[in-house]
Amino acid sequence: MAEKTILRALAGETQDVPPIWMMRQAGRYLPEYRATRAKAGDFLSLCYNSDLATEVTLQPIRRYGFDAAILFADILLVPQALGADLWFVTGEGPRLSTITSQAELEQLRPVADIHETLSPIYQTVRNLSQELPRDITLIGFAGAPWTVATYMIAGRGTPDQGPAHALKQENKPVFEALLDRVTEATIEYLSAQIEAGAEVVKLFDSWAGSLKDKDFEKYSRDPAARIVTELKRRHPGIPVIAFPRGAGDKYIGFARATGADCVAVDETVSPEWVAKHLQPDSCVQGNLKSSHMVTGGDAMISETRHIVEALRNGPHIFNLGHGITPDADPDNVQRMIDAIRG
Ligand code: CP3
Repeated sequence: MAEKTILRALAGETQDVPPIWMMRQAGRYLPEYRATRAKAGDFLSLCYNSDLATEVTLQPIRRYGFDAAILFADILLVPQALGADLWFVTGEGPRLSTITSQAELEQLRPVADIHETLSPIYQTVRNLSQELPRDITLIGFAGAPWTVATYMIAGRGTPDQGPAHALKQENKPVFEALLDRVTEATIEYLSAQIEAGAEVVKLFDSWAGSLKDKDFEKYSRDPAARIVTELKRRHPGIPVIAFPRGAGDKYIGFARATGADCVAVDETVSPEWVAKHLQPDSCVQGNLKSSHMVTGGDAMISETRHIVEALRNGPHIFNLGHGITPDADPDNVQRMIDAIRG
């Protein structure tokens, strides 16, 4: 059995104390992150500066001793590597040039060329695999094709992914060709991260919840299955965490259908439900509501203990249901960890 707690959970081991990490653990709620980001100038410059990206990845490990470090990068670097323009508007979020026609699709770069843009990210992974303490697991990641495509089609984040749903209705061939292109790029990107030293990879399908029935199967589940299958063919034994956020009932069977070793769950499902319906199939990760990191207090402690208790009879990695927000109190993170580790 592997000695790292996260790898043990992913291999199906039930542990007395679950290993812990947090989505967006390197981020604006930490003063040391804000200082390094200021040094880099802006968010994208930070992502592409391997030394500074290594530094911010390590900051939450030093401060809290999490069991895993997640590569500091962003899911939207893949569209940029495929040739889309990408920039971030302060206080608003990402903006991209849009792809909604065959002509625009044809202007994208071939998948084989993405490494040119993404090579600094692989350098960050190599740095981290040298510098991380031996007992800490290094997680690489990418956005899932549907979620990445929603940004490429709309040119920004959208509350209901309306533009992507519209393209799926109005021009299915372009929509499906775009999803295919992103799927192939994601396989190459994650494969390169694994070669550089990522020990686990996570696929973020943040907008999976807006896909209904057959669309969920075709555009969230099936691309995830294709990515997991190909990664495991190339890198036998590589553990994969899938996060089809907002899937609800469709979380059931997702690990089995895709081959993922762990399914990450958001806070809309109860830990008892997760224990009953998901944990028999695979390791589970989650699912404390991120707002507890802002509000803290007894409610945070009791909900943290509730999740640990409900998931104690199977493999579990403690995490939030979504990323920690910039207004979180760093002391609440320590209190949460203390409540778990006793
Ligand atoms: O989890 C981690 O700490 C690893 C790094 C990471 C980031 N983004 C850094 C980041 C990861 C895994 C992501 C994933 C990501 N990025 C997702 C999927 C997960 C999710 O949150 O649903 C999505 C949808 C994106 C796209 C994205 N990046 C948006 C919509 C934004 C703006 C919103 C915001 O929080 O400001 C980003 C920016 C971003 N990515 C920041 C960080 C730390 C904040 C940038 C800053 O410092 O100003």
